[in-house]
Amino acid sequence: MAVIDQELESNGGYPRAGSEDLAHLPGNPPKIPLLGTIRFIKDPLGTTMKAHADYGNVYKSKTFMQWSVSMLGPDALEMVLMDREKNFSSRAGWHHMLSRLFSDGLMLRDFDDHRAHRKVMQVAFKPGPMKDYLLRMNGGIEQRLDAWGKTPEFKFYPQIKQLTLDMGASVFLGIDAGPEAQKINQAFVDEVAASIAVIRKPVRGFAMHRGVEARKFLNGLFADLIVERRAAGEQGEDMFSQLCYAESDEGQMLTDQEIIDHMNFLLMAAHDTTTSSLTTMMWALAAHPEWQERLRKEITEIGGAHLSYEDIAKMENAERVFKEALRMIPPVPFIPRRVVRDFEFEGKVIPAGSNVSVSPGYVHMMPELWTDPAKFDPDRFSPNRAEDRNHKFAWAPFGGGAHKCLGIHFAYMQVKAFAFQFLQRFRISLEPGYEPQWARIPIPKPLDGLPVKIEKL
Ligand code: HEM
Repeated sequence: MAVIDQELESNGGYPRAGSEDLAHLPGNPPKIPLLGTIRFIKDPLGTTMKAHADYGNVYKSKTFMQWSVSMLGPDALEMVLMDREKNFSSRAGWHHMLSRLFSDGLMLRDFDDHRAHRKVMQVAFKPGPMKDYLLRMNGGIEQRLDAWGKTPEFKFYPQIKQLTLDMGASVFLGIDAGPEAQKINQAFVDEVAASIAVIRKPVRGFAMHRGVEARKFLNGLFADLIVERRAAGEQGEDMFSQLCYAESDEGQMLTDQEIIDHMNFLLMAAHDTTTSSLTTMMWALAAHPEWQERLRKEITEIGGAHLSYEDIAKMENAERVFKEALRMIPPVPFIPRRVVRDFEFEGKVIPAGSNVSVSPGYVHMMPELWTDPAKFDPDRFSPNRAEDRNHKFAWAPFGGGAHKCLGIHFAYMQVKAFAFQFLQRFRISLEPGYEPQWARIPIPKPLDGLPVKIEKL
């Protein structure tokens, strides 16, 4: 029987198991405290592969001061993410990392409550609003690329991060670039930094304090925006306006606090993930000029200065490259859950209260599923090879099941809209022999910012 944690709510609404509940599972705590966490942060995939070699598909480990059960392989992904028996809480799984700053966002809701909120939010991702977002994106991309043209050598990661931040203010909030957008961007950056802060208490001078203050600022700003947008009497073209008017089947609108929570979470869910995957994709294209040319040809054949909504599906080669980038360096390499009732996996009982973790990052590198998994080979996603179909969960950068990423099509659209304009204007390259080092968690990024050269075409 799991040890019941007294602070139930502070644990995401479900009790947490103690180490004694996991005694029957393989896996040893490191002799030096925190060593497991340090090793894991340095090389999460390597650590996972070694643990797999030592213990198999199910083992326990202690990272970030918490015991967790790793469940490896595509069957584990399917079992946990599809959650056909309602055994897993996403809210409690993500609680430690996200609850203080991104409380009550979709990933922090479970079961019926989650389903009801997700349904209302889906309105904001229908083709009508998506077409409006694309128009805003195209304008924002063009502005930034004009500036990039003036500096042929720069670090790609901070630049693309700025571009996606600007787009966040414009597409998500309907606020154009300027001092207000900049203030919002900074608040948002502080919030995200706090979500991974080691010191979890909001002590002045530390990241969590800055994050909590930023959340207060954004709450106030969003509350004012709700009044403004609803008073306008007609729906604007940004995502925030969509949420202000979204209704359930019974005609019920979201409350002000729900809109604030969802918007805050959406910005977070969209931002670093897209920044990370665009960085991986452009690094891969810089390292593989033959693919860059293939995409450029595709874009030239489609024609036009900006990508139109109708032409998104025509960017088939860009889609393969994006999928391969997401396979090699998935922005969410591990997905946590808390077990709400005992269950069995591969003959081992995993008790209620356990934190479990499944790993798209590990599955994407399994030689049983992928030919030469370390090789950049976008054609593995071509219809005749379709390696992603080797298992329903062979390729799962967007998760799966009830919590599957709500922004998938948005992400494809943004990445393709960027590639469409960028590759028409520039050729991108790396210093000969250059290999980036990646920080893989919480969301991958190149440690040196990814220095690149761009040449005007
Ligand atoms: C390449 C970009 C992206 C990747 C790799 C990605 C990945 C993911 C993953 C793995 C999850 C599921 C996490 C879990 O099951 O615990 C998720 C959930 C989510 N994502 Fe994304 N995401 C991306 C972009 C976006 C964008 C652009 C948006 C919004 C515009 C977005 C909004 C969300 C939301 C709202 C959820 C929660 C869904 C739910 O709980 O029902 N994501 N994402």
